[in-house]
Amino acid sequence: MPISETGLSRRTFIALAGAGASSLALPFARPALAQAQPIKVGLLLPYSGTYAQLGEAITRAMELYLKQQGGKLSGRAVEFVRLDSEASPPKATELTTKLVQGDKVDILTGPVHSGVAMAMTKIAREAGVPTIVTNAGADQITRQLCAKNVFRSSFSNGQVGLATGKAMVDAGIKNAVTMTWKYAAGEQMVNGFRDTFTKGGGKVIKDITVPFPTVEFQAALAEIASIKPQAVYSFFAGGGAAKFIKDYAAANLQASIPLWGPGFLTDGVEKAVGAAGNGVKTVLHYSDDVDNAENKAFRAAFKEAYGIYPDVYAVQLLDVGLKAVNGDVAKRDELDAAMAKASFKSPRGPFRLSVSHNPIQNFYLRELKDGNNVLVKTVVKEFPDLTTGCRLAA
Ligand code: BEZ
Repeated sequence: MPISETGLSRRTFIALAGAGASSLALPFARPALAQAQPIKVGLLLPYSGTYAQLGEAITRAMELYLKQQGGKLSGRAVEFVRLDSEASPPKATELTTKLVQGDKVDILTGPVHSGVAMAMTKIAREAGVPTIVTNAGADQITRQLCAKNVFRSSFSNGQVGLATGKAMVDAGIKNAVTMTWKYAAGEQMVNGFRDTFTKGGGKVIKDITVPFPTVEFQAALAEIASIKPQAVYSFFAGGGAAKFIKDYAAANLQASIPLWGPGFLTDGVEKAVGAAGNGVKTVLHYSDDVDNAENKAFRAAFKEAYGIYPDVYAVQLLDVGLKAVNGDVAKRDELDAAMAKASFKSPRGPFRLSVSHNPIQNFYLRELKDGNNVLVKTVVKEFPDLTTGCRLAA
């Protein structure tokens, strides 16, 4: 807004801006000045460790979306405040507090790791900061711990597991061994899988876990070789997923025991695993080949901007909320209400939120072939997650 429209002299304006615009001096000037500041969006994401690749991919998707909007949302500049979560739950409370109380972010986003998300959303609920979970799937966040200011643009762990279990039943698989990192994400993805797989007549022969973020898989792979299940269902992601797929092939299991899992097993590691990944089947709310105009535009823009194709994580939700309040992030209730009702066409297909703020979305079966996750079919359309224990009204 030009200074002339604020009703302030140029000198007063500069003095106020420099002095932090004391509200006692000129209370009527506050909204205009607040609106002139960039919207601060906190990104608590892993930029180091096994999930670094996922953190970078989410950041790039957000930067790309902002660039496509000319660097502004609802007419206001946006400043991203990045903090490395290291995918470390013990550090999450301190880091989130720094973003909320130190940097005074208007919006909180991230993380990747479910344990980090539990700590981050606890603070977000107490502080009332509008929050968008851009990856971490901890089921509780959009079930019993749902909150009016906490949203997910990604998935819940159980939701991905349920969809993958259905795909494996549809493929005629009768028994499987599960193998995952031992923490909330792996356990919840296995629980979801077990639910639809066993209801569809499948039997889980054995659950194998390894501590997060270990990549020592040899003993477990030897056990799988001796059990000889019809398939393996496995959750790993980032650097750990690449190592697991290569070790699985090196143990000569690739041809005899098909490897399945949620899409994180192959996303972002397609090229790194090369031929070792051929035939790995995964289910996710995104596939490179989703045939819609939004996906084509998104992929083209992402390739132009970064020379690589997009990962699955992008955020349009914030833009919807900001438009409803004309960029005035202080109107938290209105912003939250608008995000709760958001519904748009996205690169992954139709997107809207359940009453507990978890996406209702399509899930796709993909098969990794020579470095590409090739779309096989849509497993389930507009698939909701359970809202068990969530007290938000419909
Ligand atoms: C999680 O911790 O929730 C998670 C991490 C990586 C990929 C998917 C889920």
